[in-house]
Amino acid sequence: MASENAAKIDPAPGPGLRIPVHLGVIMDGNGRWAKAKGKRRTEGHVQGVQSLRNVVEYCIKFGVSYLTVFSFSSENWARPADEVSFIFGLLRRFVVSDLQRLIRNNVRIKIIGARKGLEPSLIRLIDEVEAKTANNTGLVLVVAFNYGARAEITDAVRSLVADAVAGKIDPASIDEETISRALYTREIPDPDIIIRTSGEQRLSNFLLWQSAYSELVFVPENWPDFDETSFVRVLETYAMRDRRYGGLGAGGS
Ligand code: FPP
Repeated sequence: MASENAAKIDPAPGPGLRIPVHLGVIMDGNGRWAKAKGKRRTEGHVQGVQSLRNVVEYCIKFGVSYLTVFSFSSENWARPADEVSFIFGLLRRFVVSDLQRLIRNNVRIKIIGARKGLEPSLIRLIDEVEAKTANNTGLVLVVAFNYGARAEITDAVRSLVADAVAGKIDPASIDEETISRALYTREIPDPDIIIRTSGEQRLSNFLLWQSAYSELVFVPENWPDFDETSFVRVLETYAMRDRRYGGLGAGGS
C-alpha cells in the first residue's frame, strides 16, 4: 500500500511475465464498489485514487514505462454536478498531495484532454505539475482528464485542415504518422494493453486511435479492489496473447 513516506521503489520485473511498455486503464466500478459496501459513491472515488497510487507503484516495480488512466471523460459531465465537482477536487488533491512522492519516484506526469471548460486555476495547476516533473526519466503517468477520443481526433483533424488551408502542409502528405502527431498523445507510444475493471467490456471513447492493436483485458474486480494480484494476473494474460498486428504471428498460422 502506498504511503507518503514510501521509499523510492526499485524496478524489479517479475519472472516469466511480459511487461508492456504502455498500459492503459479504464478505472471503472468506483460507484458499484461503494454501493456494495453501503457507502456514498464519492467514497468509491476516494478509494479509486488509492488504487491509482498502488497501480503507479506496481508499474514502477514491474518496469512499465507508460501508464495512462481514464479519470474523467468528456461524457462524465452528464453526472450530478456535486459528483463532477468532487472528482475535480480529487484531481487537484491528488496532484498536490502526491507530487513530492511522484517526484521522488522519478515519475513524469502528463495530463491529456481538453483544457477548454476547465477552470483557469486547474489549468495552471496542471501546467505546474507537468513542468515540475518534465525532467523525470522514470514512469510516465498520463492522466486522461476531460478526455474523449472522438474530441481528440476531431481537434487533430481541425488543426490539420487549418494547416492545409494556410498552405503549411500538403494534404497529400497527411499519413497515419501525421495524425498520430496531431493527437494529445503525440510523444507517447500506443498502449500495448488496455485494462477495464468492473466487468464492463467496451472502450467508452478511450484512446480509440491509439488502441488499434492494443490487447484488451477485462477484469471483474471494481477499480478500488484492483490489487497487485489483479495486476500480475493481467500481465500473465498479456504474456499469453499472440500479437500479430494483422500478420501471421510467431506460429505462422
Ligand atoms: C469510474 O467509476 C471512475 C470514474 C468515472 C472517475 C473517477 C476516477 C477516480 C476517482 C480515480 C482517480 C482519479 C483522479 C482524479 C486522479 P464509476 O463512477 O463509473 O463507477 P460505477 O460504474 O460503478 O458507477
